[in-house]
Amino acid sequence: MAAPRVFITRVIPDAGLAKLMAANLRVRVSPLPRLLRAEELRREAARSDAVICQATDAIDRQVLEAGAKRCRVFANCAVGYDNIDVACAARLGMTVTHTPNVLTEATADLAFALLLAAARRLGDAERVLRAGAWRGWSMLDFLGTDVWGRTLGILGAGRIGTAVARRARGFEMRLLYVARDPKPAMESLGASRVPLATLLAESDFVSIHLPLTDETRGMIGEPALSRMKPGAILINTARGAIVDQDALIRALREGPLAAAGLDVYAHEPNVPRELLAMENVVLLPHIGSATVATRSKMAETAAANVISILAGKGPLNPVPAPQE
Ligand code: NAP
Ligand code: GLV
Repeated sequence: MAAPRVFITRVIPDAGLAKLMAANLRVRVSPLPRLLRAEELRREAARSDAVICQATDAIDRQVLEAGAKRCRVFANCAVGYDNIDVACAARLGMTVTHTPNVLTEATADLAFALLLAAARRLGDAERVLRAGAWRGWSMLDFLGTDVWGRTLGILGAGRIGTAVARRARGFEMRLLYVARDPKPAMESLGASRVPLATLLAESDFVSIHLPLTDETRGMIGEPALSRMKPGAILINTARGAIVDQDALIRALREGPLAAAGLDVYAHEPNVPRELLAMENVVLLPHIGSATVATRSKMAETAAANVISILAGKGPLNPVPAPQE
């Protein structure tokens, strides 16, 4: 019997490939230096026993149905899985897996780096220097916002949100969080669970660590932004569509926001030109988990899930099917 066939939608670190090869699977990696089109994803799903995909691949009903006869697992190389119709996969008897934990610390580091960069104006200060326009030290240049001792509001008190709270403790920040139930890990860090309106009104920094779901899509729109403290700074390393981008642009132009640090956008890789033109926004190209070690671990985790499922042992990191 031929070895099961695994298709990988875009190049992954060698560590993941090595694991699949060592398990004697037939592996094909898309040779294309771009996202696959819907029809390409459908064709590959139909002729594979497993697909390793990424957060940028839209694994919708059509792709899942195309793979339904043969494909047993879609292993997302990401912790977020809003790109996959998980309910449909469950109906079709297919497993969806993701890569929790291994990217938590790297993503929390990046969120905190964005917070510091936006607060201390690292982006515009560096642009001035690189342009040869720095005229020397001045008392009034590049004045930012203090971080130490200020209030940080965390939306999404899960793995990454809690890891960000741990970092904030080193800066002696007051911690607020919003969650559907109390989170002992956050409470043990001294964080207080508050209603969203309180968090928005009292936080100097708000950092988003929610998954993108029907409930969280657009959660930070005009009403939420207008409740934020004058001079507050918004950090988003979760998903772009949790924030209403047009409302964010207005809040940065007209207040109350002083700045923002963004790693994610509603329609990646498109970034609104208004944001590109703003000096008070630090913009990163979705690099939350982008360290050599973390990306290798993500690839290994996806590979391990595929190997386990194809060996009949079940998933290691299953995405729970939603209640219908
Ligand atoms: P997680 O551990 O599942 O944490 C998410 C938290 O959000 C959970 O505690 C969950 O609460 C909470 N939540 C969900 N819906 C909510 C709602 N309506 N109101 C309040 N809280 C809600 O996930 P994670 O590993 O921290 O990852 C979080 C997200 O970060 C991912 O989904 C992904 O989109 C994003 N991410 C981005 C990057 C990047 O490269 N920028 C990297 C990694 C992850 P419950 O505990 O009640 O379920
Ligand atoms: C990246 O965005 C992830 O969800 O892992």
